[in-house]
Amino acid sequence: MNPMNPMNHPIQACLFDLDGVLVDTAKYHFLAWERLANELGFSFTEKDNERLKGVSRMASLEILLSVGNIQLDELTKMTLAEKKNSWYVDYISKMDDTEILPGALAFLQELKQHGIKIALGSASKNAMTILNNANLVPYFDAIIDGTKTTNAKPDPEVFILGAKEVHIAPEHCVVFEDAEAGIEAAIRGGMRTIGIGSADTLTLADYVVSSLAEMSVEKLQRIMSTAT
Ligand code: BG6
Ligand code: MG
Repeated sequence: MNPMNPMNHPIQACLFDLDGVLVDTAKYHFLAWERLANELGFSFTEKDNERLKGVSRMASLEILLSVGNIQLDELTKMTLAEKKNSWYVDYISKMDDTEILPGALAFLQELKQHGIKIALGSASKNAMTILNNANLVPYFDAIIDGTKTTNAKPDPEVFILGAKEVHIAPEHCVVFEDAEAGIEAAIRGGMRTIGIGSADTLTLADYVVSSLAEMSVEKLQRIMSTAT
């Protein structure tokens, strides 16, 4: 057996980012950040918001403040991040399974039927609230979120922990991500990647689909046996 041949590494675990991959919560992050920017006296566009995807809460605030050209002390920054989070939590506390993104549920069900492990790898500290409200918890063999990690993506920690918890070696794992930082984290963790979104943005991904509605287990194994 040639260990360099990807045919010898069928996928045994799928690791999913949450926001923008499984659920449509990226819009709520945007609404809350936009509200904060407006309170601080500047506007914040959806294009600016792209830079926040996959980035931790405090790092997101730093980017937002740089857009507004505002410098603040650490205590004020903490207060503002908490304020943004309280608005965000208000939004997600009302969400339900209608905010699961197209194809996500069917793909999770198919993976389960095939005995492929499923793990969450999210930067969010609110991941459990979202998974509970969307009734997604039962699908996961491991849930790694922002409460369990110390290093934010593009550090590979979140995915390495996920792979360890499901006992699958990185070369048998594939990561589904909508953020460039997340794709980079997966690559640094030695895993293969499927980008959710546009191939123009997710240039480092092995393969890009516009949503999980384009995925099936048969396609996954086929793509991953040819991906380099
Ligand atoms: C990521 C989002 O999943 O979680 C980021 O893409 C967000 O936009 C990050 O900043 C942290 O989320 P939270 O819920 O802990 O503020
Ligand atoms: Mg995301």
